[in-house]
Amino acid sequence: MEDVLAPKASVIGFIGLGVMGGSMAKHILDAGYELHIYNRTREKGKDLVEQGAIWEEKVADLARKCNCVITMVGFPRDVEEIYFGSQGLIENTKHGTFLVDMTTSSPSLALRIYEAAERKKLHVLDAPVSGGDKGARDGSLSIMVGGKEDTFKAVLPLFQVMGKNIVYQGRAGSGQHTKMANQIAIASNMIGVCEAISYALKAGLDPEKVLASISQGAAGSWSLSNLAPRMIAGNFDPGFYIKHFIKDMKIALEAADGMGLDTPGLEMALSMYKKLASLGHENDGTQALFRLYSDKE
Ligand SMILES: NC(=O)c1ccc[n+]([C@@H]2O[C@H](COP(=O)([O-])OP(=O)(O)OC[C@H]3O[C@@H](n4cnc5c(N)ncnc54)[C@H](OP(=O)(O)O)[C@@H]3O)[C@@H](O)[C@H]2O)c1
Repeated sequence: MEDVLAPKASVIGFIGLGVMGGSMAKHILDAGYELHIYNRTREKGKDLVEQGAIWEEKVADLARKCNCVITMVGFPRDVEEIYFGSQGLIENTKHGTFLVDMTTSSPSLALRIYEAAERKKLHVLDAPVSGGDKGARDGSLSIMVGGKEDTFKAVLPLFQVMGKNIVYQGRAGSGQHTKMANQIAIASNMIGVCEAISYALKAGLDPEKVLASISQGAAGSWSLSNLAPRMIAGNFDPGFYIKHFIKDMKIALEAADGMGLDTPGLEMALSMYKKLASLGHENDGTQALFRLYSDKE
């Protein structure tokens, strides 16, 4: 099955052209693939069409023309809408088509898609990503993949166009489970980052100088290096939407509960982000957690 997705030998579809998908689709186009695109809001495909992508009016139209379709939408309900039903991907793709969901979605939905697609002789992967808007723009995403290993090997050339750290995690759903582990690690870390910056400010330190010290030592993290500077600058633009992070933490909490695992750090982070959303900040970036510390001042 390897080499079936080399540029020029294949036609790629991309659904979901937001903060992440827009940049990821651009890398596929730049790599020389014929690219068909679809998004709920047509406007977001405009730049890609100007650069050579082909706009499709419906999911089903796109599905019939491509031998690999990548989806990068917002929520599990969006994934369900695109994959299932008479106008969805599973019903309208040709036998042998590759379907790759890169949305952060639930492991159980990934399994349902896999099982439904198997019956139609389609090749399915769940392949969520980490690395943020910056990783999507730079083509340096971390991609965590679940599904059959020979399917993973076939899709690898496409993943290499969008990411750098690409790891096969195991059977269907394993990519999403890995992403949940990622989100659990970030949840508590975001609280630590906010508290470190607040502490530095209260102590009368220059927070940028503090970051220069602590981001290189044992406290170092992606959030400290990339999001703390945005907190200090009062830049709360997304990046990674709070509404999406809440979605991820709810999925992770439900999955952990189902496995009998206590995750008090995750629960605390979720309650803080829900508070932010109730204050009207769900479309801010996740670094806006800092508002709960700084807005009190
Ligand atoms: N941003 C990050 O830093 C980051 C990092 C890692 C993972 N993620 C995950 O990646 C996914 C995408 O994130 P994002 O930041 O790119 O979100 P986003 O900007 O909201 O993009 C999602 C896109 O999907 C489109 N969409 C949703 N439902 C659709 C449907 N049924 N049919 C067609 N298009 C549909 C949306 O259309 P509209 O334009 O009409 O809204 C939107 O353009 C999320 O699951 C998120 O949790 C995000």
